[in-house]
Amino acid sequence: MSACNGNIRLLLLRYHCSMNTSENSQQTLYGLIGGDARVRELVDRFYDLMDLEADFATLRAMHPPSLEGSRDKLYHFLSGWSGGPDLYTPRYGNAFLRARHLPFSIGTSARDQWLLCMVLAMQGLGIAEDDQDILLNAFFRTADWMRNKPD
Ligand code: HEM
Repeated sequence: MSACNGNIRLLLLRYHCSMNTSENSQQTLYGLIGGDARVRELVDRFYDLMDLEADFATLRAMHPPSLEGSRDKLYHFLSGWSGGPDLYTPRYGNAFLRARHLPFSIGTSARDQWLLCMVLAMQGLGIAEDDQDILLNAFFRTADWMRNKPD
């Protein structure tokens, strides 16, 4: 799946984000991802892509040389964030997610790189398209909240 495909879906979502009505009341986001092992798989694929794809070089450069710690933190965080068990707080304390991102310069370009990387990771896992859209909508809200500089 090319980055371009994901990019188009991301743009469409951005313009329709505020009109989203597709919340699935039966399932948590955690359920849509597929539970614990799939959250780990999603995070591993996300960071593998960030490490390998030239499109994500700016995003990769913000991260430490080894991504092992980043993988662990995102996996533990996404479990609770998506409605599964809170694995993050007992290990790292309150996430204060926006504050933890303040050392990094995040505008729309970094935000969209992060989201595109996540779209490709979700596609790689074979998550159903409708479920991807619900997840992407939630990721968009969190990623957009992380912006800390004007474009
Ligand atoms: C908007 C674009 C984003 C950028 C550019 C970005 C970048 C980063 C960077 C550079 C780190 C430090 C990695 C490390 O110290 O190992 C980090 C940490 C983290 N990010 Fe993001 N991030 C973004 C969005 C998000 C989103 C949307 C989430 C959650 C849905 C998220 C969750 C986390 C978590 C949990 C950590 C670890 C915090 C800690 O314990 O220190 N990030 N991020």
